[in-house]
Amino acid sequence: MTTTQVQFNKGKGIRLYTPDQDEYIDAVSGTFNLALGYSYPELVDALKTQLEDLIHVSSSFTGDLAQQVLDSILAHAPAHITTGWMRDIIGSTANEGAVKIANKYNGKNEVISLSLSHHGQTLFATAISGNAFRRKSFPHTVVTQNGIVPAPYCYRCPFSAKGAPACGFLCAEAIHDYAEYAASGGVSCIIIEPILGNGGNIVPPEGYFERVRKICDELDIVLIADEVQTGIGRTGHMFASEYYDIKPDIITLAKGLGGIGIPAAAILYTSQLAVLEKFEHSYTSGGNLLSLTASQKTMEIVSREGFLENVRENGVVLGRLLNRLKEKYSDVIGDVRGIGYMWGLEIVDKDGAPDVNLTNKIIDNGLENHHLILRGSRYGFGNVVKVRPSLTATVDDIEEICARLDKIFHEL
Ligand SMILES: Cc1ncc(COP(=O)(O)O)c(C=O)c1O
Repeated sequence: MTTTQVQFNKGKGIRLYTPDQDEYIDAVSGTFNLALGYSYPELVDALKTQLEDLIHVSSSFTGDLAQQVLDSILAHAPAHITTGWMRDIIGSTANEGAVKIANKYNGKNEVISLSLSHHGQTLFATAISGNAFRRKSFPHTVVTQNGIVPAPYCYRCPFSAKGAPACGFLCAEAIHDYAEYAASGGVSCIIIEPILGNGGNIVPPEGYFERVRKICDELDIVLIADEVQTGIGRTGHMFASEYYDIKPDIITLAKGLGGIGIPAAAILYTSQLAVLEKFEHSYTSGGNLLSLTASQKTMEIVSREGFLENVRENGVVLGRLLNRLKEKYSDVIGDVRGIGYMWGLEIVDKDGAPDVNLTNKIIDNGLENHHLILRGSRYGFGNVVKVRPSLTATVDDIEEICARLDKIFHEL
């Protein structure tokens, strides 16, 4: 059985149902975008009301509502991020908008990104993403001047260093060297996922972002935090930028913002970066009424007292259970890393090398025999099993996910 052969026609919480009432557990919240799980009733009700009242008006008439939604997001953003843009519905164009802002602001055009990163699938977003597999069919399309530098992947350090901070953050120094020597001052911005999501749940070491921020200040580079995956509570904090004290100039959001899968995206930035004119970055469906309704309700729910605290606490339980699996199956689980509801299990062969076949086997076996939906990491080496349930998952849900994972590993 493959994912294309299973069909679902109903979803509730973290569970999906086939027309024959077979139940599956989705351990990855759709495409990591269902912050509130499937069909969260309060959000469905808000959307039903909006559907009945008004589905679309031109964005010329939605400015006030968009501003209200932005305000409700900005209320939780790092204090220096005070304004934003709500005219996108996907992360790819939100990232492009962020780069446009940087380019217009500092008059430069180069972008630095990290190897193994994923920033979307428009031509531009594909070009600045760290893995070549999505752009290799378009070898003649040149869309941007950019440099890809090594990711802060301590488990498989690209410099074979022995760990941070002793390594001197060689991966951060690569940013400095590229900007100084390869680009000769032409770098406009750097875009970084606070935790590299699709690349393999790579959590940068403490001190990395501090060094990156200093380099950006020194070389007049705009720092963009792509929080399309990490934003809206995924790490147990509304923004990972806040938790890791990244101090970005721009934050991009999508995925979880729509709560139950309604497409919605936003770009947040400091007041001096408010340089775009409306006509410079707008889409017909950008900031549509359903997206705005979903975003506003999602923000209301996720910011309720206790909601994120719950994700933080349950996230500790999830981490503990996954680490227990690592101890039990140490021959195949090389590393477990994450925070909140954003975890990855690095699957290795007997020599410790990435084992992509085994990873795929685990994912397929999970779906077929244990009705557990998992995803792998194609942007990295392809050997990380991702566990990222909806933020509404309870401790019982988490225990059930880990119990099924245990059975899957046992069967190997
Ligand atoms: C970190 C990150 N940025 C950007 C994107 C692109 O978002 P979208 O697919 O909504 O265009 C993704 C999608 O997976 C992502 O994970």
